[in-house]
Amino acid sequence: MADNEQKPTTNDAGIPVSSDEHSLTIGPDGPILLHDHYLIEQMAQFNRERIPERQPHAKGGGGFGHFEVTHDVSAYTKAAVFQPGTKTDVLMRFSTVAGERGSPDTWRDPRGFSIKFYTSQGNYDLVGNNTPVFFVRDPMKFQHFIRSQKRRADTNLRDHDMQWDFWSLSPESAHQVTWLMGDRGIPKSWRHMNGYSSHTFMWVNAQGEKFWVKYHFKTDQGIDFLTQEAADKLAGQDADYHTRDLYEALKNGNHPSWTLQMQIMPFKDAETYRFNPFDLTKVWPHGDYPLITVGKLTLTRNPTDYHTEIEQAAFEPNSLVPGIGASPDKMLLGRIFAYADAHRARLGVNYKQIPVNRPHVPVNSYSKDGAMRMDNVTDPVYAPNSKGGPKADPSLNPPVDTWATSGDMVRSAYTLRRDDDDFGQAGTMVREVLDDAARDRLVSNVVGHLKDGVTEPVLERSLQYWRNIDQNIGDRIAQGVKGT
Ligand code: NDP
Ligand code: HEM
Repeated sequence: MADNEQKPTTNDAGIPVSSDEHSLTIGPDGPILLHDHYLIEQMAQFNRERIPERQPHAKGGGGFGHFEVTHDVSAYTKAAVFQPGTKTDVLMRFSTVAGERGSPDTWRDPRGFSIKFYTSQGNYDLVGNNTPVFFVRDPMKFQHFIRSQKRRADTNLRDHDMQWDFWSLSPESAHQVTWLMGDRGIPKSWRHMNGYSSHTFMWVNAQGEKFWVKYHFKTDQGIDFLTQEAADKLAGQDADYHTRDLYEALKNGNHPSWTLQMQIMPFKDAETYRFNPFDLTKVWPHGDYPLITVGKLTLTRNPTDYHTEIEQAAFEPNSLVPGIGASPDKMLLGRIFAYADAHRARLGVNYKQIPVNRPHVPVNSYSKDGAMRMDNVTDPVYAPNSKGGPKADPSLNPPVDTWATSGDMVRSAYTLRRDDDDFGQAGTMVREVLDDAARDRLVSNVVGHLKDGVTEPVLERSLQYWRNIDQNIGDRIAQGVKGT
């Protein structure tokens, strides 16, 4: 049948239906009959259309494209996706963190920057943000942090008092909060922001040499931002401003791209670096570890069905391919559990069989059965076996992405090093990275936020928090809030 030919409506079993408009009744004015199974299918299906939204990062959008390697980094990793000239299909999703599915795109928040690379060695997921650092450094605090950003139990309202209470009692948040309250806290569009792994990962080359690495996806569109005033206005006028921007750009063939650059630290350096290189609240200064270009990420096409391709997309930091490993960053190690667990709860145990999550390589796993299983399972269903079933080949993924460690079991912060402190890098950003106009906007954004519902003693603690970042900026904020 030609595409433009009128198709007959069928029910979900493919049986032609007799009406799109009328239910089956006894006479035109009589009661509806229970055996109108098509009407019941319509109502029952509708009642089940919504699935749980993601806990954080519920509001988002995305598209498809590719990643192409332009520079040779095979000295650092053997991962197929990063070998010279390799071109790999990708799925990307951008998101806000705290807002619900219908919330405005222009609320001040970090933005998610998720990439699924459909590599020749299986799916590689990099689930980053548009910021190089994070608010906390231990996964024990993540749940509490997110709750403090969402809604109160009693009013069901978001609450700046709760946000600053958490932040001012968590000094490790200072670097990320400074970043958030500055211009980059509201990007002009998803196309106009960078993406960062934030975490340190491990790369391993073909000789088994290991490196610690950080990913920086630099926007080729240029960094741009919205002022608080413009964002507030847009939140009312067009809650889907960023979703629309990306959709329109891709529809019009205006393909956004990002250049991937890496910071690469020799494995041994981590032992003696002046601060803990795995602490997610810190960047590695560019002067210490300069950026090395790898390739270009380009988005080229919109999804055709938002629900199946974006809402049901499942990104997970545990999906690491040979040549790429985790690091001792406690947050990363927590995330390696959390995401697949969230997908099993949100999408069901067989979520990797949803087409958008399927790897573009054969799957020979021993997973079996479960709700919504799509693929037939074949015998033998156990390993080891002598019946010709799949057999692990350690040469394809030798367990070399490891590090040595020892010690008693403790619940403790990272051991402090010479330059480890909570406020130093935030202060550097305020004093050395921002210009006068950006500093003025930072002060104005923080003052506006603090004046909107923050009460004592949280307020005084928050002012001290800013003075710890930078005395001058703290004094200016105090003056703006209290007029003193
Ligand atoms: P550099 O001068 O080499 O780097 C400063 C970086 O700051 C820039 O490259 C840019 O990162 C980023 N930046 C510029 N404007 C803003 C802004 N308004 N808000 C947030 N970030 C901005 O110095 P260092 O590497 O020594 O870092 C100094 C400080 O810069 C750090 O303490 C940190 O706060 C911040 N920073 C550092 C990054 C890093 O990975 N080293 C990354 C981002 C911020 P980009 O090029 O990635 O856009
Ligand atoms: C989404 C947990 C830290 C980036 C999520 C989701 C969970 C989660 C449960 C929802 C997943 C889903 O339902 O699909 C955690 C935990 C963290 C943590 C436990 C810390 C211990 C971080 C950090 C980053 C990050 C540090 C960025 C560097 C994201 C992104 C998404 C997300 C981008 C949205 C993924 C998508 O587009 O579908 N997180 N997170 N998270 N998180 Fe985290």
